Amino acid sequence: MDKKMIIDKTAEYVKNFLKNDSTGHDWWHIFRVWKNAVHIAQKENIDLFIVELAALLHDIGDYKLHNGDEKVGRKFVTDWLENLQLEQSVIDSVMSIIDNMSFSKNVESKQELSKEGQVVQDADRLDAIGAIGIARCFMYGGHRGNILHDPGIKPIMQKSTEEYKKGEATSINHFYEKLLLLKGLMNTETAKKIAEKRDTFMRNYLQQFYSEWEGTS
Ligand code: NI
Repeated sequence: MDKKMIIDKTAEYVKNFLKNDSTGHDWWHIFRVWKNAVHIAQKENIDLFIVELAALLHDIGDYKLHNGDEKVGRKFVTDWLENLQLEQSVIDSVMSIIDNMSFSKNVESKQELSKEGQVVQDADRLDAIGAIGIARCFMYGGHRGNILHDPGIKPIMQKSTEEYKKGEATSINHFYEKLLLLKGLMNTETAKKIAEKRDTFMRNYLQQFYSEWEGTS
């Protein structure tokens, strides 16, 4: 199989697996991360094949999709890569990206990532901010049963991975606890520029939200 076929087959597999997801990790999230990643990768001198595979598979092993079991999720991904009969070095590169890129893995200390991994991480983080980020934030909050906003509940700047997994109490606080921090965490210049724009959009959105909340606009 050539690389293009492997990417197409993997996209088809992921699309099928995530068909009915409503946690914000649906196929179209993967699609956007994939496209974002290819766009960012253009300016970097890196292995696009690794970038595309990791972008497509980055959420398949997520504990949320496997009844909270990370090991089951991880095996799902390695089984797929082994079935494709890829070289072990390719499998290792992709797995090391997937294992280390998530926000929750990086709460306590920053994980080492390859250049390819940094691009996929940027692409994933970009999808959590801006207009789409706002939409996903409320969708995920609804899925968790969180409330929209309560002026009496202050954001908690979470410290541990466990605390992060427990989730936040309100969707608006999620902006302060995570989304507005992402701009400062981008690895590549291309992603930094895009993040800047999306961050401004979110801050404007929040301003409008609060003035509507107070009935002043
Ligand atoms: Ni993702």
